[in-house]
Amino acid sequence: MATLRIKVRPFVSARPVWLAGLIVLGACLSYGQTVNSCLDCHSAQPGRLEVTPEKFSQDIHSQKGLTCTSCHGGDSSSYDPDQAMSRKAGWKGKVDRKQIPQLCGSCHSNPALMRQYNPSLRTDQLDQYHTSVHGKLLAAGDSKVAVCTDCHSVHDLRPPSDPRSTVNPVNVAKTCSRCHSDAAYMKQYGIPTDQFAKYNTSVHYDAMVVRGDLSAPTCTTCHGNHGAAPPGVDKVQNVCATCHAFQAQMYAKSTHAKAFQDASLPGCVVCHSNHAIHLPSDAMLGTGPSGVCMRCHTAGDHCDRARADILDNLTRLDASIKDADQSLRLAESAGMEVSAARLSQDQARDSLTKARVTIHTFQAALVNEDVQAGMKIADANLKAGQDAMVERNHRRIGLGICLIAIAMMLVGLWLYIKKLESK
Ligand code: HEC
Ligand code: HEC
Ligand code: HEC
Ligand code: HEC
Ligand code: HEC
Ligand code: HEC
Ligand code: HEC
Ligand code: HEC
Ligand code: HEC
Repeated sequence: MATLRIKVRPFVSARPVWLAGLIVLGACLSYGQTVNSCLDCHSAQPGRLEVTPEKFSQDIHSQKGLTCTSCHGGDSSSYDPDQAMSRKAGWKGKVDRKQIPQLCGSCHSNPALMRQYNPSLRTDQLDQYHTSVHGKLLAAGDSKVAVCTDCHSVHDLRPPSDPRSTVNPVNVAKTCSRCHSDAAYMKQYGIPTDQFAKYNTSVHYDAMVVRGDLSAPTCTTCHGNHGAAPPGVDKVQNVCATCHAFQAQMYAKSTHAKAFQDASLPGCVVCHSNHAIHLPSDAMLGTGPSGVCMRCHTAGDHCDRARADILDNLTRLDASIKDADQSLRLAESAGMEVSAARLSQDQARDSLTKARVTIHTFQAALVNEDVQAGMKIADANLKAGQDAMVERNHRRIGLGICLIAIAMMLVGLWLYIKKLESK
């Protein structure tokens, strides 16, 4: 009871002093909780030692409540560098590149730990990494290959879904190119350094980066991200097949599939390339510089004849569709009703698209089936346009005759009136 009195008294009598004390105490307590000597000191360090609060606050680990010591160890409550960065306080020292996968894996390969934060997050990145060309070479002592932080960055590491992340699908190619386009850096390996430059000219780059179609592939879609090994020759077709199923099914049944496999040729890539995949056109079937068939076939053999036949069919259907289009446009601008025919032109175009897929059977007869279906529609539409013009001409002649008749009638009337007046 007495103690209570002693406490209450000053509260009543010396209120401002008490309040000030409380504020200082509160400040001290919250200061004690968030003090981070590592961040405070390193934000003022020069060059590569600098880690600022602005940068670190962007990091997913910081946002999830982890801090410098979660990865580096040490005592973040001490401003004495000898104490803060002492081995006794668990400081791990300068981070060696070769240790980085183990460091990241110490949490990310621990399902029990990771589940507390995000149950849907995979925990196989380190295992996968060990199977990749990067991981194998690192284990063999080559520290020039990519480790976790080369792809993910460090201290401002964002989840892949963040558009600013170095591993967001749109940014991946640039991240890989830091090494893979650097001819000097890659010199000792003797592999090409043109993947990024070529990929940048491809339909896939155009779809993903220019048109924002995230269903198009970037480097890691084809190569894997953690198991970053190139698909073996026999797996190349599988990569393309995951998205281009129709072409892949037809190709799989073709003579080429077997012939290419026997010759260890990489399937789709033989004709389309791997990184510089461009918009295909009928010219690929031609004998000009974009032609791909004559690289292997001889002029006049049965394969060349099939090639010429396919090309001829496609060209004819393409021309027929264009003729029909023009004829319908003409009829339309003459005010004739041809909307039904205009609409069915889409079906003819679909047949042409289908025929270009059927090419992957490399059988002229099958391509021709699609072409014939399109031809029937295009021919009918051409006729519809022509008929409409004939009809319009009939109407014009009819109208002309009517006008002449009316004019004659008016002249007759005028002459008649004149005659009456003169009387
Ligand atoms: C009072 C300033 C200060 C404090 C506090 C401090 N550091 Fe350092 N830290 C330094 C300086 C200076 C170096 C460079 C020392 C050297 O090159 O020998 C350094 C080096 C490092 C390095 C090695 C960098 C490298 O690759 O050479 C790491 C990692 C590091 N500090 C992390 C931490 C962590 C984690 C904490 C908190 C537990 C911390 N530091 C606290 C000043 C500080
Ligand atoms: C998610 C783990 C992680 C966290 C959290 C983390 N670091 Fe690091 N830090 C690393 C790794 C890994 C490296 C080595 C990077 C490399 O060599 O590519 C590193 C490197 C460093 C370096 C040396 C830079 C250099 O280029 O050699 C310093 C200094 C450092 N960290 C300080 C800090 C400070 C201060 C904090 C807290 C604000 C912090 N780190 C938080 C993982 C972390
Ligand atoms: C101390 C444990 C720990 C260490 C060490 C660690 N991480 Fe993390 N990491 C986490 C936690 C926890 C999350 C948050 C997961 C969540 O909530 O999505 C996370 C998130 C991530 C994410 C985002 C995942 C997502 O899609 O949400 C990436 C990427 C990542 N870490 C990479 C790394 C890399 C690279 C290293 C090594 C430099 C590393 N981490 C070291 C614990 C750790
Ligand atoms: C060659 C580049 C590369 C390396 C090396 C790499 N990553 Fe990744 N990582 C990626 C890409 C790309 C993604 C995004 C995948 C996506 O879009 O879903 C990713 C995603 C992640 C994620 C998010 C969850 C997931 O699996 O999709 C985590 C966590 C992660 N990486 C951790 C690591 C760790 C730990 C290491 C080192 C052992 C590492 N990464 C090495 C490229 C890399
Ligand atoms: C830090 C530099 C660096 C980064 C970043 C990097 N790589 Fe590599 N990568 C290498 C080195 C070095 C090799 C070894 C080359 C060799 O042995 O042929 C390699 C090998 C490869 C190989 C195997 C090549 C072969 O000839 O077998 C593939 C595939 C690959 N990287 C893909 C990627 C992808 C995809 C990315 C981005 C997600 C990436 N790399 C990021 C340095 C890097
Ligand atoms: C559409 C799938 C696809 C995309 C996207 C892709 N690659 Fe490839 N890449 C391949 C194929 C297929 C090979 C050949 C593999 C073989 O012959 O075994 C290859 C080969 C490679 C090689 C081995 C050396 C070479 O050039 O033959 C490297 C390194 C490589 N790619 C890196 C990259 C990088 C970096 C990117 C992104 C800029 C990328 N790839 C995008 C499919 C792709
Ligand atoms: C992750 C899915 C994916 C993978 C894997 C993939 N592609 Fe594509 N591909 C696309 C998308 C999406 C487009 C863009 C389609 C568009 O323009 O609407 C495209 C476009 C194309 C085109 C142009 C077709 C056109 O009419 O626009 C060709 C040719 C092509 N890819 C060939 C390949 C080859 C060969 C491979 C394997 C080396 C491959 N693709 C792997 C998704 C993929
Ligand atoms: C022997 C050469 C050859 C091979 C092998 C080949 N293609 Fe093609 N591909 C072509 C030609 C030629 C065209 C052009 C059609 C046109 O526009 O006339 C084409 C067109 C395409 C198109 C766009 C046209 C469309 O709408 O279908 C895609 C997508 C495509 N190929 C994907 C693939 C895939 C995936 C594979 C492997 C499963 C593959 N190709 C294998 C020669 C080939
Ligand atoms: C990389 C070499 C190569 C390329 C490129 C190539 N072919 Fe072939 N083609 C072959 C081989 C090998 C065979 C099987 C042996 C044979 O019949 O001559 C074959 C077979 C054929 C056949 C016979 C199919 C059958 O079922 O009997 C036709 C038709 C054919 N190719 C057309 C084409 C066309 C069209 C192109 C271009 C789009 C093309 N080829 C591109 C190598 C190639």
